[in-house]
Amino acid sequence: MNTEVIFVDKNVNKEETYTQAVDIIRKGGIIAFPTETVYGLGADATNAEAVEKIFEAKGRPADNPLIVHVDSKGAALGCVEEVSENAEKLMDAFWPGALTLIMKSKPHLFAQNVTANLKTVGIRVPNHPVALNLLKRVKMPIAAPSANTSGKPSPTLAEHVYHDMEDKVPLILDGGPTKIGIESTVLDMTSEPPVILRPGNVTKEQIENVIGTVRLSAEVLGNGPKSPGMKYTHYAPEAPVYLIEDDSKLIKKAIEYIQGKGKKIAVLSSAEYPEADYHFPLSPETLYTSLRKCDMTDADLILAAVPVHRDDNDFMMNRLEKAADHKWFS
Ligand code: TXA
Ligand code: MG
Repeated sequence: MNTEVIFVDKNVNKEETYTQAVDIIRKGGIIAFPTETVYGLGADATNAEAVEKIFEAKGRPADNPLIVHVDSKGAALGCVEEVSENAEKLMDAFWPGALTLIMKSKPHLFAQNVTANLKTVGIRVPNHPVALNLLKRVKMPIAAPSANTSGKPSPTLAEHVYHDMEDKVPLILDGGPTKIGIESTVLDMTSEPPVILRPGNVTKEQIENVIGTVRLSAEVLGNGPKSPGMKYTHYAPEAPVYLIEDDSKLIKKAIEYIQGKGKKIAVLSSAEYPEADYHFPLSPETLYTSLRKCDMTDADLILAAVPVHRDDNDFMMNRLEKAADHKWFS
Protein backbone atom coordinates (compact mmCIF):
# COMPACT_ATOMS: atom_id res chain seq x y z
CA MET A 1 0.00 0.00 0.00
CA ASN A 2 1.18 3.48 -0.86
CA THR A 3 1.10 5.93 2.02
CA GLU A 4 0.21 9.47 1.07
CA VAL A 5 1.06 12.33 3.43
CA ILE A 6 -1.00 15.45 2.97
CA PHE A 7 -0.20 18.65 4.78
CA VAL A 8 -3.36 20.21 6.12
CA ASP A 9 -2.81 23.83 6.95
CA LYS A 10 -4.69 24.46 10.17
CA ASN A 11 -6.09 27.77 8.95
CA VAL A 12 -7.22 26.64 5.53
CA ASN A 13 -10.00 24.22 4.73
CA LYS A 14 -8.76 21.93 2.04
CA GLU A 15 -12.07 20.35 1.11
CA GLU A 16 -10.55 17.85 -1.29
CA THR A 17 -8.37 16.37 1.41
CA TYR A 18 -11.23 15.98 3.84
CA THR A 19 -13.38 14.42 1.13
CA GLN A 20 -10.64 11.88 0.49
CA ALA A 21 -10.22 11.18 4.23
CA VAL A 22 -13.97 10.86 4.82
CA ASP A 23 -14.27 8.55 1.83
CA ILE A 24 -11.59 6.21 3.20
CA ILE A 25 -13.23 6.06 6.65
CA ARG A 26 -16.75 5.54 5.24
CA LYS A 27 -15.46 2.67 3.08
CA GLY A 28 -13.98 0.94 6.14
CA GLY A 29 -10.37 2.09 5.78
CA ILE A 30 -8.00 3.73 8.26
CA ILE A 31 -6.26 7.12 8.23
CA ALA A 32 -3.91 8.99 10.55
CA PHE A 33 -4.78 12.48 11.76
CA PRO A 34 -3.45 15.02 14.26
CA THR A 35 -5.04 15.80 17.61
CA GLU A 36 -3.80 18.29 20.20
CA THR A 37 -2.22 15.45 22.21
CA VAL A 38 -0.69 12.99 19.73
CA TYR A 39 -1.52 11.70 16.24
CA GLY A 40 -4.33 9.15 16.08
CA LEU A 41 -4.96 6.19 13.78
CA GLY A 42 -8.67 6.28 13.05
CA ALA A 43 -11.46 4.08 11.72
CA ASP A 44 -15.27 3.95 11.82
CA ALA A 45 -15.95 2.90 15.42
CA THR A 46 -19.08 1.00 14.39
CA ASN A 47 -17.30 -1.20 11.83
CA ALA A 48 -15.43 -4.18 13.33
CA GLU A 49 -13.51 -4.95 10.14
CA ALA A 50 -12.31 -1.38 9.86
CA VAL A 51 -11.30 -1.31 13.52
CA GLU A 52 -9.44 -4.60 13.07
CA LYS A 53 -7.17 -2.81 10.57
CA ILE A 54 -6.05 -0.47 13.38
CA PHE A 55 -5.07 -3.40 15.60
CA GLU A 56 -3.21 -5.00 12.68
CA ALA A 57 -1.34 -1.85 11.64
CA LYS A 58 -0.24 -1.15 15.22
CA GLY A 59 0.33 -4.75 16.27
CA ARG A 60 -1.89 -3.92 19.23
CA PRO A 61 -3.08 -6.61 21.65
CA ALA A 62 -6.82 -7.21 21.21
CA ASP A 63 -7.58 -6.74 24.92
CA ASN A 64 -6.54 -3.08 24.87
CA PRO A 65 -9.61 -0.92 24.11
CA LEU A 66 -9.50 2.13 21.83
CA ILE A 67 -10.62 5.70 22.53
CA VAL A 68 -13.63 6.91 20.54
CA HIS A 69 -13.50 10.46 19.15
CA VAL A 70 -16.61 12.52 18.50
CA ASP A 71 -17.14 16.13 17.42
CA SER A 72 -19.32 17.36 20.29
CA LYS A 73 -20.83 16.72 23.69
CA GLY A 74 -24.12 16.01 21.93
CA ALA A 75 -22.55 13.26 19.85
CA ALA A 76 -20.94 11.78 22.97
CA LEU A 77 -24.26 11.71 24.81
CA GLY A 78 -25.67 9.69 21.92
CA CYS A 79 -22.98 7.03 22.42
CA VAL A 80 -23.44 6.27 26.11
CA GLU A 81 -26.14 4.70 28.20
CA GLU A 82 -26.02 6.70 31.40
CA VAL A 83 -24.45 10.08 31.88
CA SER A 84 -23.90 11.37 35.37
CA GLU A 85 -24.24 15.04 36.21
CA ASN A 86 -20.52 15.04 36.97
CA ALA A 87 -19.64 13.59 33.56
CA GLU A 88 -21.62 16.36 31.89
CA LYS A 89 -19.88 18.97 34.03
CA LEU A 90 -16.51 17.64 32.90
CA MET A 91 -17.57 17.65 29.25
CA ASP A 92 -18.65 21.28 29.60
CA ALA A 93 -15.43 22.22 31.38
CA PHE A 94 -12.80 20.37 29.32
CA TRP A 95 -14.19 19.51 25.87
CA PRO A 96 -12.95 19.91 23.29
CA GLY A 97 -9.78 18.82 25.06
CA ALA A 98 -7.37 16.25 26.43
CA LEU A 99 -9.76 14.42 28.74
CA THR A 100 -11.11 10.95 27.91
CA LEU A 101 -14.15 9.88 29.92
CA ILE A 102 -14.88 6.19 30.46
CA MET A 103 -18.64 5.70 30.57
CA LYS A 104 -21.17 2.92 30.10
CA SER A 105 -21.52 2.36 26.37
CA LYS A 106 -24.83 2.18 24.54
CA PRO A 107 -25.25 -1.53 23.73
CA HIS A 108 -24.57 -2.72 20.17
CA LEU A 109 -23.45 0.70 18.95
CA PHE A 110 -19.68 0.22 18.78
CA ALA A 111 -17.85 -2.67 17.19
CA GLN A 112 -16.88 -5.09 19.96
CA ASN A 113 -13.17 -4.80 19.24
CA VAL A 114 -13.27 -1.03 19.99
CA THR A 115 -14.12 -1.68 23.61
CA ALA A 116 -12.30 -5.03 23.85
CA ASN A 117 -15.67 -6.53 24.85
CA LEU A 118 -16.03 -4.23 27.85
CA LYS A 119 -19.38 -2.62 28.64
CA THR A 120 -17.63 0.73 28.96
CA VAL A 121 -16.17 3.05 26.34
CA GLY A 122 -13.63 5.86 26.47
CA ILE A 123 -14.79 9.00 24.64
CA ARG A 124 -13.29 12.41 23.97
CA VAL A 125 -13.77 15.47 21.77
CA PRO A 126 -10.30 16.41 20.51
CA ASN A 127 -9.28 20.05 20.43
CA HIS A 128 -7.63 20.20 17.02
CA PRO A 129 -9.12 21.87 13.94
CA VAL A 130 -8.12 19.03 11.61
CA ALA A 131 -9.54 16.32 13.88
CA LEU A 132 -12.73 18.33 14.41
CA ASN A 133 -13.14 19.10 10.70
CA LEU A 134 -12.73 15.42 9.93
CA LEU A 135 -15.23 14.34 12.61
CA LYS A 136 -17.80 16.93 11.54
CA ARG A 137 -17.62 15.77 7.95
CA VAL A 138 -17.54 12.04 8.54
CA LYS A 139 -20.52 12.27 10.93
CA MET A 140 -19.67 9.10 12.81
CA PRO A 141 -17.60 8.24 15.88
CA ILE A 142 -13.96 7.51 15.04
CA ALA A 143 -12.05 4.94 17.10
CA ALA A 144 -8.44 6.09 17.29
CA PRO A 145 -5.53 5.00 19.42
CA SER A 146 -2.20 6.77 19.10
CA ALA A 147 -0.79 6.19 15.60
CA ASN A 148 2.43 4.42 16.66
CA THR A 149 3.50 0.81 16.49
CA SER A 150 2.38 -0.78 19.75
CA GLY A 151 5.02 -0.35 22.46
CA LYS A 152 6.77 2.57 20.71
CA PRO A 153 6.57 6.25 21.69
CA SER A 154 3.38 8.00 20.52
CA PRO A 155 3.70 10.16 17.38
CA THR A 156 3.81 13.93 17.80
CA LEU A 157 4.77 14.62 14.16
CA ALA A 158 3.39 13.25 10.89
CA GLU A 159 6.94 12.00 10.22
CA HIS A 160 6.69 9.74 13.29
CA VAL A 161 3.47 8.27 11.93
CA TYR A 162 5.07 7.75 8.54
CA HIS A 163 8.03 6.00 10.15
CA ASP A 164 5.77 3.49 11.93
CA MET A 165 2.90 3.23 9.46
CA GLU A 166 4.48 3.44 6.01
CA ASP A 167 2.62 1.04 3.71
CA LYS A 168 0.10 0.27 6.44
CA VAL A 169 -2.11 3.34 6.15
CA PRO A 170 -3.19 5.01 2.90
CA LEU A 171 -3.38 8.59 4.19
CA ILE A 172 -1.71 10.68 6.89
CA LEU A 173 -3.11 14.16 7.48
CA ASP A 174 -0.13 16.28 8.50
CA GLY A 175 -1.14 19.05 10.88
CA GLY A 176 2.37 19.83 12.08
CA PRO A 177 3.65 19.14 15.60
CA THR A 178 1.01 18.35 18.21
CA LYS A 179 0.72 20.98 20.91
CA ILE A 180 0.54 18.93 24.10
CA GLY A 181 2.73 16.02 23.06
CA ILE A 182 1.41 13.46 25.58
CA GLU A 183 -1.84 11.47 25.44
CA SER A 184 -5.10 12.57 27.09
CA THR A 185 -5.99 12.09 30.75
CA VAL A 186 -8.19 8.97 31.04
CA LEU A 187 -10.84 9.24 33.76
CA ASP A 188 -13.09 6.31 34.67
CA MET A 189 -16.51 7.78 35.46
CA THR A 190 -18.02 4.36 36.21
CA SER A 191 -16.28 4.19 39.63
CA GLU A 192 -17.26 6.24 42.64
CA PRO A 193 -15.28 8.37 43.17
CA PRO A 194 -14.03 8.50 39.55
CA VAL A 195 -10.53 7.13 38.93
CA ILE A 196 -7.71 8.55 36.83
CA LEU A 197 -6.41 5.57 34.84
CA ARG A 198 -3.84 7.63 32.94
CA PRO A 199 -2.60 11.08 33.97
CA GLY A 200 -2.42 13.76 31.28
CA ASN A 201 -2.49 17.45 30.57
CA VAL A 202 -5.85 17.83 32.35
CA THR A 203 -4.76 17.47 35.97
CA LYS A 204 -6.35 15.86 39.03
CA GLU A 205 -6.68 19.31 40.60
CA GLN A 206 -8.45 20.74 37.55
CA ILE A 207 -10.88 17.82 37.56
CA GLU A 208 -11.47 18.10 41.32
CA ASN A 209 -12.22 21.79 40.96
CA VAL A 210 -15.19 20.78 38.82
CA ILE A 211 -16.54 17.56 40.43
CA GLY A 212 -14.77 17.12 43.78
CA THR A 213 -12.60 14.20 44.86
CA VAL A 214 -11.21 11.74 42.30
CA ARG A 215 -8.65 8.99 42.88
CA LEU A 216 -5.51 7.90 41.06
CA SER A 217 -5.53 4.24 39.97
CA ALA A 218 -3.19 1.78 41.66
CA GLU A 219 -1.28 1.65 38.40
CA VAL A 220 -0.73 5.42 38.36
CA LEU A 221 0.34 5.24 42.00
CA GLY A 222 2.95 2.67 41.00
CA ASN A 223 1.17 -0.33 42.59
CA GLY A 224 0.98 -2.62 39.59
CA PRO A 225 -1.27 -2.91 36.52
CA LYS A 226 -5.00 -2.44 36.67
CA SER A 227 -6.74 -1.12 33.59
CA PRO A 228 -6.61 -2.92 30.23
CA GLY A 229 -3.68 -1.88 28.16
CA MET A 230 -1.67 -0.58 31.08
CA LYS A 231 0.14 -3.87 31.50
CA TYR A 232 2.06 -3.74 28.21
CA THR A 233 5.45 -2.24 27.37
CA HIS A 234 5.08 1.39 26.44
CA TYR A 235 6.99 4.22 24.81
CA ALA A 236 10.16 2.14 24.63
CA PRO A 237 13.06 3.00 22.32
CA GLU A 238 15.54 0.29 21.23
CA ALA A 239 18.21 1.01 23.84
CA PRO A 240 17.27 0.54 27.51
CA VAL A 241 16.09 3.65 29.34
CA TYR A 242 17.15 4.32 32.93
CA LEU A 243 15.83 7.04 35.21
CA ILE A 244 18.40 9.09 37.08
CA GLU A 245 18.03 11.88 39.63
CA ASP A 246 18.23 15.24 37.88
CA ASP A 247 21.49 16.24 39.55
CA SER A 248 24.32 17.41 37.31
CA LYS A 249 27.13 15.90 39.43
CA LEU A 250 25.43 12.51 39.46
CA ILE A 251 24.69 12.61 35.74
CA LYS A 252 28.25 13.60 34.82
CA LYS A 253 29.57 10.71 36.93
CA ALA A 254 27.17 8.30 35.22
CA ILE A 255 28.26 9.53 31.77
CA GLU A 256 31.92 9.02 32.68
CA TYR A 257 31.25 5.55 34.08
CA ILE A 258 29.29 4.35 31.06
CA GLN A 259 31.72 5.81 28.55
CA GLY A 260 34.55 4.23 30.57
CA LYS A 261 32.99 0.86 29.71
CA GLY A 262 33.23 1.74 26.02
CA LYS A 263 29.49 2.36 25.69
CA LYS A 264 27.64 5.28 24.14
CA ILE A 265 25.13 7.22 26.12
CA ALA A 266 22.17 9.45 25.29
CA VAL A 267 20.92 11.83 27.96
CA LEU A 268 17.39 13.22 28.09
CA SER A 269 17.30 16.25 30.35
CA SER A 270 16.31 19.88 30.50
CA ALA A 271 19.94 20.91 31.18
CA GLU A 272 22.53 20.22 28.45
CA TYR A 273 25.32 17.66 28.80
CA PRO A 274 27.93 18.20 26.06
CA GLU A 275 30.00 15.35 27.51
CA ALA A 276 27.28 12.82 26.64
CA ASP A 277 27.43 11.16 23.20
CA TYR A 278 23.91 12.43 22.54
CA HIS A 279 21.67 14.86 24.31
CA PHE A 280 17.96 15.49 23.71
CA PRO A 281 15.62 17.90 25.47
CA LEU A 282 13.15 16.64 28.04
CA SER A 283 9.74 18.28 28.43
CA PRO A 284 6.16 17.06 27.82
CA GLU A 285 6.25 18.60 24.34
CA THR A 286 9.58 16.96 23.40
CA LEU A 287 9.46 13.65 25.30
CA TYR A 288 8.33 11.39 22.46
CA THR A 289 10.39 13.16 19.80
CA SER A 290 13.47 12.79 21.99
CA LEU A 291 12.80 9.09 22.69
CA ARG A 292 12.41 8.54 18.94
CA LYS A 293 15.61 10.45 18.22
CA CYS A 294 17.47 8.05 20.49
CA ASP A 295 16.53 5.29 18.04
CA MET A 296 18.38 7.16 15.29
CA THR A 297 21.63 7.05 17.27
CA ASP A 298 23.95 4.20 18.22
CA ALA A 299 23.51 4.90 21.93
CA ASP A 300 23.73 1.74 24.08
CA LEU A 301 21.90 3.27 26.99
CA ILE A 302 19.54 6.19 27.62
CA LEU A 303 19.46 8.19 30.84
CA ALA A 304 16.40 10.31 31.61
CA ALA A 305 16.94 13.00 34.23
CA VAL A 306 13.93 13.23 36.54
CA PRO A 307 13.07 14.56 39.99
CA VAL A 308 13.80 11.93 42.63
CA HIS A 309 10.61 12.58 44.59
CA ARG A 310 7.73 10.92 42.81
CA ASP A 311 4.78 13.15 41.98
CA ASP A 312 1.84 10.87 41.12
CA ASN A 313 0.27 13.64 39.05
CA ASP A 314 3.33 14.18 36.86
CA PHE A 315 2.17 12.82 33.51
CA MET A 316 5.58 13.03 31.86
CA MET A 317 7.10 11.03 34.73
CA ASN A 318 4.29 8.49 34.34
CA ARG A 319 5.31 7.89 30.71
CA LEU A 320 9.03 7.88 31.51
CA GLU A 321 8.57 5.27 34.24
CA LYS A 322 6.95 3.03 31.64
CA ALA A 323 9.61 3.74 29.02
CA ALA A 324 12.24 2.80 31.64
CA ASP A 325 10.17 -0.08 33.00
CA HIS A 326 10.75 1.62 36.40
CA LYS A 327 14.53 1.03 36.26
CA TRP A 328 16.79 3.57 38.02
CA PHE A 329 20.45 3.95 37.13
CA SER A 330 22.79 3.14 39.99
O1 TXA B 1 -4.65 11.59 23.55
C1 TXA B 1 -5.13 10.48 23.34
O2 TXA B 1 -5.87 9.91 24.15
C2 TXA B 1 -4.77 9.78 22.01
C3 TXA B 1 -5.38 10.60 20.88
C4 TXA B 1 -5.19 9.95 19.55
O3 TXA B 1 -6.73 10.84 21.16
N1 TXA B 1 -5.24 8.44 22.01
C5 TXA B 1 -4.68 7.46 22.76
O4 TXA B 1 -5.23 6.22 22.58
O5 TXA B 1 -3.77 7.66 23.52
P1 TXA B 1 -4.53 4.87 23.06
O6 TXA B 1 -5.33 3.77 22.48
O7 TXA B 1 -3.10 4.90 22.72
O8 TXA B 1 -4.77 4.86 24.61
C6 TXA B 1 -6.06 4.59 25.11
C7 TXA B 1 -5.99 4.29 26.58
C8 TXA B 1 -5.43 2.92 26.80
O9 TXA B 1 -4.58 2.95 27.93
C9 TXA B 1 -6.68 2.09 27.09
O10 TXA B 1 -6.40 0.98 27.87
C10 TXA B 1 -7.58 3.09 27.79
O11 TXA B 1 -7.31 4.32 27.15
N2 TXA B 1 -9.01 2.77 27.59
C11 TXA B 1 -9.76 2.90 26.48
N3 TXA B 1 -11.00 2.45 26.68
C12 TXA B 1 -11.07 2.03 27.96
C13 TXA B 1 -12.09 1.46 28.77
N4 TXA B 1 -13.31 1.21 28.31
N5 TXA B 1 -11.77 1.15 30.04
C14 TXA B 1 -10.53 1.38 30.53
N6 TXA B 1 -9.53 1.93 29.82
C15 TXA B 1 -9.78 2.24 28.55
MG1 MG C 1 -1.10 4.60 22.69
